[in-house]
Amino acid sequence: MNKLLIVASVIISIALYACKHTPPDPIVIPIPGGGGATGGGGTGGGTGSTAICFQSEVLPIFQSNCAKSGCHDAASHKGGYVLNAYDSLFKKEGKVNNNNIKPGDPSGSELYKILFETGSKKMPPLPNPDLTTAQKNLIARWINEGAKNTTNCVVSCDSGQFKFAANILPILQNHCTGCHTGTNPGTNPSGIDLTTYANVLPSAQNGFLVGVITPGSGYNQMPKGLGKLSDCEIAQIRKWVQAGSQNN
Ligand code: HEC
Repeated sequence: MNKLLIVASVIISIALYACKHTPPDPIVIPIPGGGGATGGGGTGGGTGSTAICFQSEVLPIFQSNCAKSGCHDAASHKGGYVLNAYDSLFKKEGKVNNNNIKPGDPSGSELYKILFETGSKKMPPLPNPDLTTAQKNLIARWINEGAKNTTNCVVSCDSGQFKFAANILPILQNHCTGCHTGTNPGTNPSGIDLTTYANVLPSAQNGFLVGVITPGSGYNQMPKGLGKLSDCEIAQIRKWVQAGSQNN
C-alpha cells in the first residue's frame, strides 16, 4: 500500500512538474549552418565562406522592407524602432536594446525572430510579403558572424551574369520589392509591382526600370531615398533589358 502511494505521488509530482513548463514556442526559427570552416553549402543560399557584408547585403533589406515611410523610418519609428542604419538596428526608443540583435545568436535576436511570425504579428505586415528565405538566411549568417558593421566590402557580383531568375529578381527583392509589392496604394503608392516577371516587364520595356536606377534625367531615383544600386547591379539590369528582358 505504502509503495503504491509513493509510486503514485512520484507520478503526480512528475506530472505537476511537467505542467509548470510552458510549451515550446510554436515558431520554428531555422538557423542556417552558414559558410564556416565546416562547409555550409547546401541550403545556405549564399556566397559560401565569404563574410556577409552589412552595408551592401543586409542594410538594403532592412531599408527597403522595414524603414519605409509609415513604418520604421526616422519619422514614423513604429514600436520605437528605426531600421535604417547600423546603429539604430540596436536601439529601441532611441536607447540601446540588447535584445534587438544579439551577435552570434540569431534565435535570441528579436529582429530576426519576428521574421517568422504569422498573422497579426507578421513582419513586414500584410499585405507586404515575408522576406525570402535567402534574405532571412543572410541576416542569420550576418548575426552569426558577429553582426558587424562591415562596409566597403567586396561582394561577388558578375556583371556578365544577367538572367532574370538568378540575377535580376534577387536585386529587385533586396532593394525594391519592400516598396513595390502589389498594387495596394496604402503600401505601394507607385502602383508598380516588381515581384514577378510579368509585372516587371512593362517597366523594363518602357525604359523606366533602367531610368530610375541609373538615374536618367527626368526619372525619380530608385531605390527611393536610399543608396544607389552598385555599378555591377545596374550593369546587370541594363544588360538584361538590352538583351530583350527575357524570362530566363
Ligand atoms: C522606400 C520605398 C521605395 C523603394 C525601396 C523603391 N521604390 Fe520605386 N517608387 C517608390 C515610390 C513612392 C514611387 C512613386 C514615385 C515617387 O514617389 O517617386 C516609386 C516609383 C517607381 C517607378 C515608377 C517611375 C516613377 O518615376 O514614378 C519605378 C519604375 C520604380 N519605382 C522602380 C524601383 C526600383 C527598380 C527599385 C529598386 C532598385 C525601387 N523602385 C525601390 C518607392 C520606392
